[in-house]
Amino acid sequence: MNRRVLVINGPNLNRLGTREPDIYGTTTYSELVELVIQGGNDLGLSVEVRQTASESEMITWLHEASDSQTPVILNPAAFTHYSYAIRDACALLTAPLIEVHISNPSSREEFRHHSVISGVATGVIAGFGTNSYLLALRAISTL
Ligand code: DQA
Repeated sequence: MNRRVLVINGPNLNRLGTREPDIYGTTTYSELVELVIQGGNDLGLSVEVRQTASESEMITWLHEASDSQTPVILNPAAFTHYSYAIRDACALLTAPLIEVHISNPSSREEFRHHSVISGVATGVIAGFGTNSYLLALRAISTL
């Protein structure tokens, strides 16, 4: 049976394709979902992809992943920079956590330079466009 991986996306990522395409590219959210599921299949991983703008919902999903020891690939979007509640939920995880970003937040506005999540992540992949997710899957497959 394929190993399960949960990919969680935060606020505004469902707008990919039309959201600031010069920064995030033109791949739509549904294309990203297909790409990530296919990329997971190629590595023998069974990938589920979710998106929410709700901090509360994201925390519930992280608790589920913690209980089921499921590895998580998380793009916390803007929550990255200020949500201690998401960080605390990430700290409860019992399997690897890869923080991903489509853009490279460190090369953007000052407020994006700090991630409150990175300190509890297994690793961080940022700046490779939608490929960041595929690189994260590859990282999980080696752990
Ligand atoms: C992002 C970077 C964040 O700073 C931003 O708030 C996002 C997307 C990225 O994938 O590059 O929503 O996480």
